[in-house]
Order: sequence, then C-alpha cells, then structure tokens
Amino acid sequence: MGAKIIGSGSYLPEKCVTNHDLEQMVDTSDEWIVRRTGISTRYLLEPSEDPAKMGIIAAKRACEDARVSPETIGLFIVATNFPDMICPGSSPFIASGLGLDQTPFFDLKAGCSGFVYGMAVADGLIRAGLYQRILLVGSEALSRVTDWSDRKTCVLFGDGAGAALLEAGEASEGVLGSAIFGDNEKALLLHMPAGGTRTPANSSTVEEGGHFLKMEGAGVYRSAVPMMERATRAALAAASLDLGDVDWLIPHQGNMRIIDSLAVRLGVDNERIITNLDRVANTSTASIPIALDEARKDGRIKSGDVVVMTAFGAGVTYGAVVVRM
Ligand code: UT7
Repeated sequence: MGAKIIGSGSYLPEKCVTNHDLEQMVDTSDEWIVRRTGISTRYLLEPSEDPAKMGIIAAKRACEDARVSPETIGLFIVATNFPDMICPGSSPFIASGLGLDQTPFFDLKAGCSGFVYGMAVADGLIRAGLYQRILLVGSEALSRVTDWSDRKTCVLFGDGAGAALLEAGEASEGVLGSAIFGDNEKALLLHMPAGGTRTPANSSTVEEGGHFLKMEGAGVYRSAVPMMERATRAALAAASLDLGDVDWLIPHQGNMRIIDSLAVRLGVDNERIITNLDRVANTSTASIPIALDEARKDGRIKSGDVVVMTAFGAGVTYGAVVVRM
C-alpha cells in the first residue's frame, strides 16, 4: 500500500515583483536575471501578511480538490526552512487555520528538498500502516529572510505554498520509489548564520546581517545537477522503472540553467519537464508542489502518468520520488 496523491493545492501571494522592480532596488538588470536564472517575476508577501495564510490556503485547496474533510487527516507535515516562529515552527499555526484540532503535526526541515523528503517519509508511514491519510505542505516566506540589498540572492527567491494530500492506495499507484541523500560537508553552502542556538540573536547579529539567508551560489550550482541526476536515477531504480517510463519530470525550481543541464544529463526532452520558475522564482520547499498543482489543474499531468520530482537544497540534502498519479 503506497501513498497516492488524491489532491493538490497551491497559493501565491498577490503582489507580483518584476525584474524591472528589482532594478530600482539593487544593481542588476532584467537581462542579467533572465539570462543567468530564467526568472522574470516572483510573488511576495506584504510585510503585514501572516505567512501561515499561504500554507492554510494551499492545504484547503488540496482538501477541496480531493473532496476530503480536513478532520479525516491522520497526520499533518509542513516542510519549511523558515518557520513562522523558530519554536514551535509553522505546522501548529497552519493546522489551527485548517481546524485540525486533534491531528498530530510537525515541521520538516530539509532545505529545498523538504517536500521530496516529506513525500518519502509520508509514503513510509502509510506503507507501515500507521496512517491512512497524510497532508503534506511546503510553505516558504523567503522574502522575510532575504537581504534585499544583496543582488546575488534577492533576485532568486519568491514566496508561496503548495500541498499534496496522500492516501493509502494500491501498490501499483502512488509513490513507486524514492531515494533521499545528504552531504553534510556542504552544510554552509546555504545557511542563516544567526538566530539559532549556536549564535543567538543580539544587536551585533542584526547589524551584521546574520538573520538573512546566505548562499554560495556557484557552489550550489555545481552540486545541484549531479545530485538531482543521481537521485532521479536511484528513485527510478527503486521503482524498477527507467527514464523512458517517465511522463513528467518536476525538478526543484532553482535556476533554469540547472534544470536545462539536468535535462541534458538525463536525456529528457524539455517538453516533459514542468517549470514555472520564470513566473514564480525559487520558492524552496513550495516549488515542487506548486508546479505539481499547476500541471495537474491545467490538465498536463493526467491520472496514470508517471511523475518524477527531484530536488536539492540546504544541508546539503537531495532526493527524488517517483509517483504514478
Ligand atoms: O534552492 C537552492 C537555491 N539556490 C540555487 O539554486 C542557486 C544556484 N546558483 C545560481 O543560480 C547561480 O550561481 C547564481 C544565479 C546565483 C549566480 O550566477 P553565476 O553565473 O554563478 O554568477 P556569479 O555568482 O559567478 O557572478 C558573476 C557576476 C559577478 O560579478 P563579477 O564579480 O564577475 O564582477 C557577480 O557580482 O555576476 C554578478 N552578479 C550580478 N550581476 C547583476 C551576481 N548577481 C547579480 C545580479 N545582477 N543579480
């Protein structure tokens, strides 16, 4: 009994910020951003908006899509890197907005691979017979931790949330195979220096910008392609499938050049790759479930299709999951 996706949902904030808007804030250009990343716009929360709202709306849409009442969910998982509060995280606030009074919940922190890790974890729990229905949300308010004076990072990120409702299904459907990996030697490629217990917040950490996301872009770039290739091949092997069986590849939406290189290494045509990076930018744990939801709702992904989702991110974590829809 594997975990079948019976519903999906997503949410993007209303405020759309273009590359031209960013030209007014940092020394950059629309031409540079499009050529080096493939991104043209991103959606950002207003400072007054509650970040939990994104996960609540995406999760509600997934429940509506599946025609399932939230109270029937056995376990609720939120993949996020930057929770509403360091303690107790994001999951209790989103659970509250969904009216999940008795449902257990937890945050899962595994970099931008959080949604793929979450799928693997949820599948394992369902296979073990512990839960019939698990709601998995990827929600990320990256605008709240972005240094808007740092052109090397601020052009890359967007806010958003995506959700998938998983239910115990037949062995021939749902998650057919998964593979997750880690490389802790690259832990500082993407990190937030302060605010954790190693370097708690104080006036110096604020002055030094220690509460912003730092990224060694070129290092991430070099690692991402071989990692997602390895994970994709391993997950397909676990599913006893090969690349010719794959209808759709949904890679983490980090950079279009990374996605193009991955496609070449895997030998997958661009027509079989789902991307929304140009419009949505990198929304970390939300990137794959938003792309999945959009492609299900617009009819590209159909029932019975084999979909591979693969991601890499802070940690460094990486992984892939193969799903029959
Ligand atoms: O979820 C995982 C998250 N991370 C990623 O997926 C990011 C992976 N990395 C990347 O996408 C790319 O490394 C970046 C897009 C971040 C950078 O592209 P790059 O081709 O690796 O550029 P670079 O860092 O080597 O910088 C090249 C030049 C530098 O100028 P100098 O030192 O050669 O004069 C940068 O200062 O481009 C400059 N630059 C910019 N110029 C205009 C960096 N950012 C910008 C910018 N606008 N926004």
